[in-house]
Amino acid sequence: MREIERAAIVALMAREVERFAAERPKSRALSQQAKPHLLAGTPLTWMREWQSPFTVFVERASGATVIDVDGHDYADFCLGDTGAMFGHSPAPFAELVTRTAGQGITTMLPTEDSVWLGAELAQRFSLPVWSLALTATDANRFACRFARELTGRPKILVFDGCYHGTLGETLVDLKGNGMIRRPASIGVVEDPETTTRVVDFNDLEQLDRALAEGDVACVLAEPALTNCGMVLPDPGFHDGLRGITRRHGTLLIIDETHTFSTGPAGYTGAFGLEPDMLTLGKPIAGGIPAAVYGFTAELAERINRRFEELGDFSTGVGGTLSANALSVRAMRVMFEQVITEQAYEHMFAMAARLEEGIEGAIARQDLPWHVTRMGARVEYGINPTPWKNAKQVRAGCDPELERLLHLYCLNRGVLVTPFHNMMLTSPATTEAQVDRHSEAFESAVAELAAG
Ligand SMILES: Cc1ncc(COP(=O)(O)O)c(C=O)c1O
Repeated sequence: MREIERAAIVALMAREVERFAAERPKSRALSQQAKPHLLAGTPLTWMREWQSPFTVFVERASGATVIDVDGHDYADFCLGDTGAMFGHSPAPFAELVTRTAGQGITTMLPTEDSVWLGAELAQRFSLPVWSLALTATDANRFACRFARELTGRPKILVFDGCYHGTLGETLVDLKGNGMIRRPASIGVVEDPETTTRVVDFNDLEQLDRALAEGDVACVLAEPALTNCGMVLPDPGFHDGLRGITRRHGTLLIIDETHTFSTGPAGYTGAFGLEPDMLTLGKPIAGGIPAAVYGFTAELAERINRRFEELGDFSTGVGGTLSANALSVRAMRVMFEQVITEQAYEHMFAMAARLEEGIEGAIARQDLPWHVTRMGARVEYGINPTPWKNAKQVRAGCDPELERLLHLYCLNRGVLVTPFHNMMLTSPATTEAQVDRHSEAFESAVAELAAG
């Protein structure tokens, strides 16, 4: 198997940086103007994660295409890091949402759409009762709060390498046999030893030991890790996770925000998982802030009883703008018309083609890399075998090489998510766009392999 030489990466990087800068005078000028007044030079500090010397500024986006201010057209496999998984401004969405925007957006009263939405979510995800939030972060925060309240236990358990939003207590890593606060989690003051347990994904023995002390309210888990690289569950992992959590009286919250790429009812629907709560945000309102979280009938009943006991429904769980008419209408339009079986069929076909293109290029250059696909989500790894946990991901990464591959693709009109090598296909993604990625990727690895 072939090794990539460091010198080849450095030389290609220098060439690609020069090309990027030369072709984007307007983005460069806007980046300069943004610097004095926007923190880290961007409206969201994460936008600094793109592997380019300065940020690309967007003029407009539609379907699976982004156009930048310099007139470049990109095949978008980032799709707003999942927020636009069903395409930018899908056709029915623009007209219906615009109409709603002119009819009052937030009133602290429900609209009829919310009744439709509750019934739709119950039917789709097999959990009967739902509540609304604005972000997946908040849906997770509220679900954990309810879990702590109902169990009277202080801790939550997460898997090493997870990301569930900006909840401080989830920003931890395993190091050696111990837990550390994630180095970049600035300003988190809670001691994670009092709030959190963290174990390796796919390790049921560790999980069992960690829950045995009886102080963990809930496990908050993605069905597959998607935020450190893609780590799929071993056969039997989910049965084990459910059995162990039940045995220890720990609630199971499944976060479908990214694994919703698996099918119209998420990984939970596709593989028959039985969570106590399910959380979902990002793409469900086509990019308008909205998230949902659902409960089993038993949990919902216990929570309702708690509200009655407290005589108070405004328990610090919620948020003023949650369930505003615009978010709810956007979700209705998305679930009714866009997030359909047919949409997924197309997304899967495009993702399979994307996977094939990457696999072919890797094989032709005899590189020891691998590709993983989960429905409409594809990720390649710069090491030979699929990962089992986050430790293996960390050991198998090559940030310098990955930065180069992303920038190389960007320069050839292809957007890959800046966080590791994740790509998504949408109902609007075309074969030509997939082939554009395949050609760029093939050309990059051929140049790298040639040294
Ligand atoms: C699995 C998962 N849950 C929750 C979140 C948080 O989403 P948001 O930033 O929209 O709150 C993310 C964000 O990437 C995520 O990947």
